Amino acid sequence: MRRIIISYIVPLLLLLAIETHAHNVTRLLASHPSFSSFNHFLTQTHLADEINRRTTITVCAVDNSVMSALTSKGYTISTLKNILSLHVLLDYFDAKKLHQIRDGSALAATLFQATGAAPGTTGFVNITDLKGGKVGFGPDGGDPSSFFVKPIEAVPYNISIIQINKVLPSETASAPTPAPAEMNITGIMSAHGCKVFAEALLANPGATKTYQESVEGGMTVFCPGDDAMKGFLPKYKNLTAPKKEAFLDFLAVPTYYSMAMLKSNNGPMNTLATDGANKYELTVQNDGEKVTIRTRINTVKIIDTLIDDQPLAIYATDKVLLPRELFKASAVEAPAPAPAPEDGDVADSPKPAKGKAKGKKKKAAPSPDSDSYDESDSPAEGPDGDADDATADEAGAVRIIGGAKAGLVVSLICLFASSSWLL
Ligand SMILES: *[C@@H]1O[C@H](CO)[C@@H](O)[C@H](O)[C@H]1NC(C)=O
Ligand SMILES: *[C@@H]1O[C@H](CO)[C@@H](O)[C@H](O)[C@H]1NC(C)=O
Ligand SMILES: *[C@@H]1O[C@H](CO)[C@@H](O)[C@H](O)[C@H]1NC(C)=O
Ligand SMILES: *[C@@H]1O[C@H](CO)[C@@H](O)[C@H](O)[C@H]1NC(C)=O
Ligand SMILES: *[C@@H]1O[C@H](CO)[C@@H](O)[C@H](O)[C@H]1NC(C)=O
Repeated sequence: MRRIIISYIVPLLLLLAIETHAHNVTRLLASHPSFSSFNHFLTQTHLADEINRRTTITVCAVDNSVMSALTSKGYTISTLKNILSLHVLLDYFDAKKLHQIRDGSALAATLFQATGAAPGTTGFVNITDLKGGKVGFGPDGGDPSSFFVKPIEAVPYNISIIQINKVLPSETASAPTPAPAEMNITGIMSAHGCKVFAEALLANPGATKTYQESVEGGMTVFCPGDDAMKGFLPKYKNLTAPKKEAFLDFLAVPTYYSMAMLKSNNGPMNTLATDGANKYELTVQNDGEKVTIRTRINTVKIIDTLIDDQPLAIYATDKVLLPRELFKASAVEAPAPAPAPEDGDVADSPKPAKGKAKGKKKKAAPSPDSDSYDESDSPAEGPDGDADDATADEAGAVRIIGGAKAGLVVSLICLFASSSWLL
């Protein structure tokens, strides 16, 4: 009986904990139309992703009229990203806590500070509990310039969204960033061991354009090293024109990830090729000190950093990462050792696999984001992805994990059932 509890209930409870953890700032703000512009730019600058993967944070939102004054200044998206990242405090402040700040004021680090883009302490915000119940926000060393208006949403103590009346002023954050559009992507690749890939990209105007347009909002490229790409060329040349473009787009992610961010960012990611039903996802997974990137077809390792300069990061990989949308597992190199459970790859990291039945149910544990991600994306995926999950002995339980709510119901039922068996 105990075995049953350990093998069924524990993973389900773990899953529950993970499901509830994932807040989604886009969704939280969606029910507040007067913040739609702020919300839109959180998505546009990819700050939403950054916010969602953190806990204990406070987002200081401004309403549409304030946003419209800000955006009318003609900032580039990367400058806008810096400005808005100053509005994400790396601590949890809801209305109650704001009014109880010890000693009347506190310095909060922001996402702007955390990205390393802020020199000195320019990425800190001074919060002051003023007389008469007012709470002021200002730059470190300056007077309060914005004021707390009202709480918007809170998931204690993970995320609090509050309204402030003005944008926080910061010369550093609003300074022009080096024009990313001027970065010579293929030049950087060619000079650092990814010349063959750069040539394929240059020969494809559609993909070249997509890459150039994406840099500004942040982009990470996983380009195959020359040896790997050379070996792959016959297969590449065999693809139709639209598939060539999709393949090239697939190797870039529309978010900037430094190596440190990749290491703390396990899970599936959309790529430049992702378009509705065409998922073209890749999965980042840490393997000790190495970062690996996977699809259901193969796994590649990052072997070199060509550039890491926000908003652009380019890494070289030891092999060519293959999207399952274009290639069949059987048609490619010697596939991963266990090809049968196609989706096992979401869960199996090589090491813990020896834990007998545990290998499979790791589905629930390793990458908090992967399940919620899969779930929200699943309409496009259709039945195939989820059906594949349910291969092992726990087929019944695992299958249901496809939907968070179903998972919750099932685990509660199991919990009840098992506790009554125990008695
Ligand atoms: C907050 O995040 C933690 C994990 O960091 C999680 O365990 C908890 O369930 C989350 N709380 C809510 C209410 O989502
Ligand atoms: C967050 O919510 C938005 C809107 O509901 C959705 O489009 C997006 O995919 C969600 N993000 C994640 C990571 O679940
Ligand atoms: C915040 O600013 C006020 C003046 O506006 C200052 O008196 C206070 O010391 C500052 N707090 C911190 C923690 O720097
Ligand atoms: C980019 O770099 C390559 C190789 O260094 C060079 O040939 C090309 O002219 C550069 N393109 C631009 C637009 O600067
Ligand atoms: C090219 O495509 C044809 C038809 O789909 C296939 O038979 C052939 O094996 C492919 N060649 C390579 C190198 O993949």
